[in-house]
Amino acid sequence: MSSRIAYLGTSVVCGAFLLCGLVALGCAVTQMGATTSDLARAHDQAGQGETTFANECAQCHGQRGEGRGDAPAILGTGALPEYPRDTGSSGSPLTDPQLLQIEAQARPAGAAWRDPFRTAQDLYEFTHTHMPRGHAGELKPADYWAVVSFLLAAQGASLPTGGIGPANASSIQIPRR
Ligand code: HEC
Repeated sequence: MSSRIAYLGTSVVCGAFLLCGLVALGCAVTQMGATTSDLARAHDQAGQGETTFANECAQCHGQRGEGRGDAPAILGTGALPEYPRDTGSSGSPLTDPQLLQIEAQARPAGAAWRDPFRTAQDLYEFTHTHMPRGHAGELKPADYWAVVSFLLAAQGASLPTGGIGPANASSIQIPRR
């Protein structure tokens, strides 16, 4: 009898560990940035941007855009949120306009702040003005467009032939995923 109770106890404990393991794994997977197929699609559609990303962005944002240190994820699930992320403990994007305003006012002078990310044009303007962090604005416009094309192709947007540029950027939505 007692050995049976011990057995039941062990399986409950094992089950709990397994569950914790799966939950942890689930979280890890959602923070991985672009998948291999996202990267393959972006490689095919925006090869030039892939090179710019690797040379100018990946050292901070990660090879898959998964984010590192204080550089947020810019590829994968939940990346490129419409509203800037809450830089506090939760890490979730702020959507309340009043909170956004408070957050904006609380930002130290010179810290990057951004308008909502809705279209490729918004993403271009942000990256052109603020990135690469530490030498913002130093890439050629063509390289900014290329990297914007790369990010959006990886996120699943269908790019116009000839890629994204000033003529079409406002009509290309940033995919939500
Ligand atoms: C030296 C590190 C560094 C490099 C290089 C860098 N970034 Fe960033 N990036 C950051 C940090 C840190 C942030 C967070 C906002 C801030 O503090 O400016 C950020 C924010 C962003 C955001 C906004 C993400 C969001 O959810 O609000 C985008 C988009 C972005 N970077 C794109 C790029 C691109 C594209 C490149 C390459 C051309 C690049 N970054 C290069 C450090 C870097």
